[in-house]
Amino acid sequence: MSQSKKGAKFTSSLGFILTAAGSAVGVGNIWRFPYLAARDGGGLFILIYLILVVTFGFTLLTSDIAFGRKTGQNALRAYGTANKKWNFLGKITFLVPAIIMTYYSVIGGWVLKYVAVYITGDKAEAASDSYFMDFVTSKISPVVFMLIFLAITAFIVYCGVEKGIERFSKFVMPGLLVMIIAIAIYSLTLKHTDASGAARTGLEGLAVYLIPDFSGLTVGRFLNILLDAMSQLFFSLSVSMGIMVTYGSYVSKETDLSSSISKIELFDTGVALLAGMMIIPAVYVFSGIDGMSSGPSLMFVSLPKVFESMGGAGTFIGLIFFLMVTFAALTSSVSIMETLVANCMEIFHSTRKKTSLIIGILSLAASVLICLGYNIFYFELKLPNGSVGQLLDVMDYISNSFLMPLTSLLSCILIGWVLKPKWIQEEMEYGGKKFRRKRLYSCMVKYIAPVIMAVLFIQSVGLL
Ligand code: PFF
Repeated sequence: MSQSKKGAKFTSSLGFILTAAGSAVGVGNIWRFPYLAARDGGGLFILIYLILVVTFGFTLLTSDIAFGRKTGQNALRAYGTANKKWNFLGKITFLVPAIIMTYYSVIGGWVLKYVAVYITGDKAEAASDSYFMDFVTSKISPVVFMLIFLAITAFIVYCGVEKGIERFSKFVMPGLLVMIIAIAIYSLTLKHTDASGAARTGLEGLAVYLIPDFSGLTVGRFLNILLDAMSQLFFSLSVSMGIMVTYGSYVSKETDLSSSISKIELFDTGVALLAGMMIIPAVYVFSGIDGMSSGPSLMFVSLPKVFESMGGAGTFIGLIFFLMVTFAALTSSVSIMETLVANCMEIFHSTRKKTSLIIGILSLAASVLICLGYNIFYFELKLPNGSVGQLLDVMDYISNSFLMPLTSLLSCILIGWVLKPKWIQEEMEYGGKKFRRKRLYSCMVKYIAPVIMAVLFIQSVGLL
């Protein structure tokens, strides 16, 4: 959907739900969610995440989508249209996709590399512990794969995404879901005895994934898990970065927003939970509890081991799986770049083709730097949440843990205290539709969300 085309609309509610889900479901669900869940001890993270989805996720998604539909404007203009003094908020939300774009295509490139691995039949090497690290720390290969991923993204945006994305999402999303469920079931049947003679099963791994462990929990650790879960929520639902505001402005007035929002929440969270179920038991089986803290490399190290254990069929299943993830990543990266391009077209009054080229080249330069963050520009920085990160993790932290609580805090103040929740309620109830969880929304947007966002923001800069 192009923002620049006045009157652009989704053709149906289903088209809207799938396109929004296409933006929401991406490497965030399949790569980021499982590694955070594993690092933060499994069950407790899941519990906190689920509570956040039905409270904060619902509130932020409702705010974004209803805001867009009510004002009929993209994010850059929507806040200023509602209240002139708040025009600056549109500009801040624009920063987030700009930062995410720099590393999203790097991860998209990693996924593409694994597509290539399964095409060339190198699945045994890919299952070794050092394969992924050898790849990301090499100087040329990650840049080449990132470049291919970025070029495809820029090409789709360059051509205009109106028809493509809606149609594309309709077959990729259900296909991905079926694959993930099948691999998750297989993961639960795994069994492995390591060199020290310890035997572990997939079902034991499932228990680690799902059962919360409160032992040794401190306030600081709880806040860190909360910040991780909240940052994941923003990233995964694509909220507080203008994208859903823009999509909201394309939704027709007949669409039942409340039910569409519930479906997007359910789909996004369902995919993330299942992705965890596919990856975490496998990590546990092959690498034990120690393997769970391996961070961003988790999916790329553990899944090849699962595919290797499947014998001959593993090559084919691995290929289809990484292809599906590539498609899911593409629908998300296109939504990120589309926002950047559409906003820049508006700011600079430039054409789509010229703007896509310039944004493509700028993204390329930034992404090359991120790739080199694993070799030439390698450093280890202790982040305020206690984890140690490289350049990619630092960018991820700035956008998801620092900027997003800030933009959410500001948008909650605008809606809760300046415009008042009734302003959103009217839009949700337009045409006699029912606004489910209406009271929860008012209470969240006015009191709970601003307080928690402020705490998380302070926590994210390391002051707590
Ligand atoms: N929600 C996407 C994912 O989970 O992979 C990532 C994403 C898309 C982030 C769009 C930000 C965005 F604007």
